[in-house]
Amino acid sequence: MLIRGADSAIDLPSTLTEEEKWHYDLFGYLVLRQVVSPAEVEQMLEIASRWFANPETVPEPVNVTQDEYSGVLNNVQYGDRIFERLSLNEKVMRIVMGLMWNRPRLFNFALVMQKQRPIPEGEKERLHRDTSGFEFPDGFRNPHNDYQAGNGQIYSNYVNTAITLVDVPQDNGFMCIPGTHKSQVKLPSTLDIDNEWAPAITFELKAGDCLIFSPRLMHGPKFWKVDYPRRVVFNRYQFSFYFNENYNLPIETHRHCISDDQYELESVQRSEKGFAKRILEKIDKGEELC
Ligand SMILES: [Fe+2]
Repeated sequence: MLIRGADSAIDLPSTLTEEEKWHYDLFGYLVLRQVVSPAEVEQMLEIASRWFANPETVPEPVNVTQDEYSGVLNNVQYGDRIFERLSLNEKVMRIVMGLMWNRPRLFNFALVMQKQRPIPEGEKERLHRDTSGFEFPDGFRNPHNDYQAGNGQIYSNYVNTAITLVDVPQDNGFMCIPGTHKSQVKLPSTLDIDNEWAPAITFELKAGDCLIFSPRLMHGPKFWKVDYPRRVVFNRYQFSFYFNENYNLPIETHRHCISDDQYELESVQRSEKGFAKRILEKIDKGEELC
């Protein structure tokens, strides 16, 4: 039985299974298979392709930036309600809630496109940790991007989700060095990635799969080597109780373009949110999440 309403984190039951806690604590990521149906993926791809091809037709406040080989659509959830189903996806939410005391806030939503391109000689793939623009010195923990585990619970107050809308073969797309979300030692500048000292891995994914990862993980994109463009949706969540990394969401002037649940998801709020309560009730009753 879940106990709700308590403000003490220690009283909060986790929505993660023991296996998921083990895996996330050890590696800093989880893979969820098929969280979105193929029909919905098709619909999203069609909308994204249309917007990239005709940026002048993109509805406000969706924002397009693109060049010959890459592009980003921001605030996509305000352009078509189908995209809300990615940031509010219950299967994904269960994990995100379990990582931040059931209180997630969405502060960024971006659909990223990446095409195969000629790689200039000497250009290397790079890894990074996400920051909000301020690099904390070595030995200091960034409170906005923290990772802790204790008493059988995990507190990862900043979590990224990446839902792919296309199939991703090995050696393409997201790469990371597992376990680096806990590392306190800087990657030596003498080391390159993809060797025994910095073993970056990639993931073979099908359209509709979701990668959930700590942005403290050293991560980055592989060069895209497939003849169709990569399209992936990144949702960034933070512990709603305290953090406001991005003051852009929710966009009050376009409040009418999103649902009440989405508005609540994007708002900084101390109390448990309505959609979170419903998900907890569903888990409590053993109902399937959608
Ligand atoms: Fe990143």
